[in-house]
Amino acid sequence: MIGTGYVGLVSGTCFADIGNQVICVDKDTNKINKLNLGKSPIYEPGLNELIKKNYQAKRLIFTTDIEKAINQSDIIFICVGTPSKKGSLKVDLSYVMSCVREILRFTKKKKIIITKSTVPVGTGDIIESILKKRKKLFSVISNPEFLREGEAIRDFKFPDRIVIGSNDKKIFTIMKNLYLPLINKGAKFLVTSRRGAELIKYASNAFLATKITFINELANLCEKAGVNIEDISLGMGSDSRIGSRFLRAGPPYGGSCFPKDTKGLISAAEKYKIKLPVVKTVIKSNQNRIHLLIKRINKILGNNLKNKKISILGVTFKPNTDDMRDSSSLKIIPYLCKKGASVNYYDPSGEKKDFSKIKNCFFKKDIKENCKNSNLVILLTEWDEFKSIDFKKIIKNKRIKIFDLRNLYNTEEMKKSKIEYYSIGRPNSN
Ligand SMILES: NC(=O)c1ccc[n+]([C@@H]2O[C@H](COP(=O)([O-])OP(=O)(O)OC[C@H]3O[C@@H](n4cnc5c(N)ncnc54)[C@H](O)[C@@H]3O)[C@@H](O)[C@H]2O)c1
Repeated sequence: MIGTGYVGLVSGTCFADIGNQVICVDKDTNKINKLNLGKSPIYEPGLNELIKKNYQAKRLIFTTDIEKAINQSDIIFICVGTPSKKGSLKVDLSYVMSCVREILRFTKKKKIIITKSTVPVGTGDIIESILKKRKKLFSVISNPEFLREGEAIRDFKFPDRIVIGSNDKKIFTIMKNLYLPLINKGAKFLVTSRRGAELIKYASNAFLATKITFINELANLCEKAGVNIEDISLGMGSDSRIGSRFLRAGPPYGGSCFPKDTKGLISAAEKYKIKLPVVKTVIKSNQNRIHLLIKRINKILGNNLKNKKISILGVTFKPNTDDMRDSSSLKIIPYLCKKGASVNYYDPSGEKKDFSKIKNCFFKKDIKENCKNSNLVILLTEWDEFKSIDFKKIIKNKRIKIFDLRNLYNTEEMKKSKIEYYSIGRPNSN
């Protein structure tokens, strides 16, 4: 596995756990040192234990020595990042291409190269053209990864589908054998062209981003029309053609995938002179949503944030991960501080360096410390430990205000407790 991040580390550990010999290689020495001390560099439930088990069984090795890793492997998974290029919709493939060049440099015998990184349609062809001088040594395959942070181990071990894209039919048998333990437990094994597999990943992420954006827009309508968005989600989601997942209204989608992959899909389509207006609108609507939420925060606090004490619960883009990439908190917290508010935040995954340089922004070690004497508590991420907070007990202000961006709490109960409660897409929610 080249790249020992959220995807490479989880996939590598799980491949080891189903009996393979795995080498995880990364250029980040700190990461590899931590792993060799038995500590996971990322927060992912169950991962530490699984790493320890397979490391001790000598099925899992962590190294920065890419030459050794390439030489000792038959199958090489590229799992490095594919972020958006700065200020552009285009995908930055420089990390992937640098891996390809290293593979070319160090390969002595036949290898299967697999892109597990999310790469635009046609990337496999580019990789093949780089390897063309020694073409016979390589098979280039696409095997996109669909795991979700926070549930990554379960997602890897019990995937809905495994997608293998190759133009070489012989490869499908090798890949089927590799994934056999998961297929035997019910995972669908889909084979397609290499370009097909590359596009399936982008299409899936763009579709899920569209679902989230759709329900978020409807939440805006519900707030004005006096309808509960949860009724709409339930009513729509019960239709098996639609499905209930990714239909919960809340903040704009964020994280390490949807924002960059929706953009990446547009830019890949542009290469073929195809416009994707639906996806373009989704990106715009999602970007606009943060402004709507900021407007509501202002309104709740009488359009005066100066010297207000605001407490944030949860800053990661979703629960059960420490990943901050494109989290709403990265926009909301700096804005509030800039406008003169004093912001406390608490997140179960710990303090974030993203906020360390912001004046008036403080990490608190527990929920109580975070929320006491607050003018407003904003719930941004629905970690389990936020589900049953007794706000009356911990906030000493007489007038407690809560803005719940995940609809975690019950409107009636909040009313009974005399808490000024705001949520998303519910009657009287603003
Ligand atoms: N994070 C997710 O939930 C998720 C899910 C599915 C797919 N993906 C895709 O998987 C890919 C990886 O995502 P991630 O979140 O794991 O990224 P990440 O940033 O967590 O990890 C990437 C790792 O690659 C390492 N790296 C970069 N260049 C290297 C090189 N030349 N040699 C060795 N190591 C190198 C980095 O140091 C880093 O540790 C992306 O394309 C992403 O879109 C991510």
